[in-house]
Amino acid sequence: MSKRAKILPLALVPVLVLLGLYFKAYEKAAESSTKGPQQPILFSHKIHAGENQIPCEYCHSYVTKSPKPGIPSMQKCMGCHLQVAGRDVDYEYDGKKINIKQEIQKLKDYWDKKTPIAWTKVYYLPDHVHFNHKRHVLRGIECRTCHGDVENMDVVYRVPKLEMGWCIGCHEQNARNEEELTQLKDCLTCHY
Ligand code: HEC
Ligand code: HEC
Ligand code: HEC
Ligand code: HEC
Ligand code: HEC
Repeated sequence: MSKRAKILPLALVPVLVLLGLYFKAYEKAAESSTKGPQQPILFSHKIHAGENQIPCEYCHSYVTKSPKPGIPSMQKCMGCHLQVAGRDVDYEYDGKKINIKQEIQKLKDYWDKKTPIAWTKVYYLPDHVHFNHKRHVLRGIECRTCHGDVENMDVVYRVPKLEMGWCIGCHEQNARNEEELTQLKDCLTCHY
């Protein structure tokens, strides 16, 4: 390791500690829980990815192409729902009774009014952390390793706590050699 590479991360420590204090408040909100947020449309992953076996990549199309997987646009939803009006039956969604057809009608109302759906985020990291989906997915890590059994969730909730130790723990287990281990544990790999 060059002298500069050794000094840089050390010089960064006080900055990161300050950031740490700043993000303390944030950390509380970042706790994992088995309860996901209430979304504007009660969209079920269990119905889409589970029962109807729509592949994750069909909707989250950028997982292997960009740092962010992306949330599907309304156009993508309507690609099916112009045809699929849904059955007029009740469904037990996270302890609430919903009607499939009426819930799909909500989507169509958004579409008619041309208002985008304001989905509430479930997984997010503080701005000082860098995470790239593409690199992880191309390395062969499955969605479920980090997001749990989404096929069986009506509401997506956060499975891991997204703490620093979780990231580093997996980096330690999966590094192919010493060189990669050093890189994957380097503060500047994740913080810049
Ligand atoms: C590949 C086709 C397809 C796509 C794309 C799709 N859906 Fe569906 N959706 C279905 C099918 C099939 C059902 C089940 C209908 C039934 O059981 O009668 C369904 C059911 C639903 C329901 C009722 C059950 C529930 O989840 O609450 C809602 C609401 C819904 N879709 C919203 C959406 C939204 C929002 C999008 C875009 C993010 C979307 N769908 C994208 C095929 C699709
Ligand atoms: C029919 C489209 C569709 C399919 C198929 C689908 N998703 Fe989603 N996904 C969405 C929509 C819409 C949202 C935003 C609303 C929500 O959180 O439920 C979302 C949200 C998510 C989130 C939370 C994102 C955030 O805001 O932090 C994760 C994680 C996720 N999906 C993973 C998966 C995985 C894993 C699969 C495959 C097992 C999958 N999805 C299949 C449409 C889809
Ligand atoms: C190594 C762990 C890991 C793997 C593997 C992984 N994710 Fe994620 N995912 C994350 C983290 C961490 C975030 C929050 C990222 C951020 O805030 O930048 C996230 C965020 C998301 C989001 C919200 C994205 C957005 O644009 O707001 C979706 C959707 C998602 N993941 C879907 C998937 C799908 C689908 C797969 C499998 C193809 C997958 N993830 C594989 C860790 C992972
Ligand atoms: C399940 C295992 C696993 C988890 C969990 C994980 N990673 Fe990784 N990460 C890897 C592997 C393996 C690589 C090497 C990927 C490659 O071949 O490029 C990697 C590479 C990286 C890289 C270097 C490549 C790049 O994108 O610049 C960064 C940064 C990174 N991870 C950040 C994170 C962060 C931040 C988290 C936690 C929020 C995290 N990782 C969680 C396994 C994991
Ligand atoms: C593999 C990725 C990764 C590496 C390597 C890494 N961090 Fe982090 N770090 C994270 C993630 C993710 C968070 C956000 C955790 C949270 O919000 O709980 C974080 C948060 C922090 C925080 C804020 C803590 C808090 O309470 O919110 C500090 C300070 C920090 N890191 C310092 C460091 C230092 C110093 C190094 C090098 C010795 C380092 N990190 C290496 C991923 C990483």
